[in-house]
Amino acid sequence: MSLVNFPKRNYINGRTPIEKMKALTKELGGPAIYIKRDDLTGLPFGGNKTRKLEYLMADALEKGADTIITCGAVQSNHCRLTLAAAIREGLKCQLVIEERIPNSYDYHANGNNFLFNLMQPEAIHICPFGQSPVKEMETLAEQLRSEGRAPYIIPVGGSNEIGDLGYIACAEEIVEQMEQMDISFNRIFVTSGSAGSHAGLLAGMKLLKQDMIVQGIGINRPYEVQRAAVLELANDTIEKMGYEPFLTLEDVLVDCNYIGGGYSVPTDAGRHAVELVARTEAIMLDPTYTGKTMSGLIDMIEKGIIGKEENILFVHTGGTPGLFAHPEIFQK
Ligand SMILES: Cc1ncc(COP(=O)(O)O)c(C=O)c1O
Repeated sequence: MSLVNFPKRNYINGRTPIEKMKALTKELGGPAIYIKRDDLTGLPFGGNKTRKLEYLMADALEKGADTIITCGAVQSNHCRLTLAAAIREGLKCQLVIEERIPNSYDYHANGNNFLFNLMQPEAIHICPFGQSPVKEMETLAEQLRSEGRAPYIIPVGGSNEIGDLGYIACAEEIVEQMEQMDISFNRIFVTSGSAGSHAGLLAGMKLLKQDMIVQGIGINRPYEVQRAAVLELANDTIEKMGYEPFLTLEDVLVDCNYIGGGYSVPTDAGRHAVELVARTEAIMLDPTYTGKTMSGLIDMIEKGIIGKEENILFVHTGGTPGLFAHPEIFQK
């Protein structure tokens, strides 16, 4: 498998580290837990979207775009990183912010919202609860085209077969690091949202003939929907890489039992996971994504689903600014 023929921008500057979480491993009584620091990917405050944007922005530039349009939730890490990448490339950027909870947009909110305002996108459009951000992006693009501009739409989460090449690259990187570290991970834990990171890692590991379990933890959609979304995107990405799609539903492992009350609604277990990792490792997770994923890992260890002899890799997909959006969650 080779990624060399795909245009790519460079925002990461080398590999992200894999570190052993020694204190957390001890606290949970084994298995050995390692962490892939994709919270350190570069662009402000890092995260998984940077990997996808390396390929998406290269595609936008190749197509002659002058304006990037994307969408996300009110505290979207994806919008923060897309805006940052557009600034780095000298492109204009318009954000469509979707109120997934009625009236949840607050211009003065901290976290990612504060960072949007600091970086000053060309426009922020609020998409009220129940309306389609996809339609809103298409209407905007149409309007810009009629003004002689060249918009490029990046889908929610940067999750399409182009953005997903970033997580094929991540799979390749992990396999190289396993060889160098002389270790073999038998399970990878990753947050499964718009599905790109999960689908890319799954497709990448399969293409590299690695037989480890790629365990997604869902944070927004019901099980059947999420499983189908991961499968479709993973197969589209395999096709983009020049192969016949070969994955089936049985290849997709996603657990949606840690969502709690819904997307971005904190859970006690997620909060506990964020606090535990902060206290033991001085690594910051977030309540919406990585905290819930870590709560899944902890739960599976406690239930004995994961054996003590296993080697686990937890992919830290970023999201740290989310901590500053709602500090009250942790001040109970
Ligand atoms: C911090 C963080 N982790 C994980 C995810 C989910 O990743 P994906 O959309 O690739 O499934 C997101 C999505 O926005 C995110 O911001």
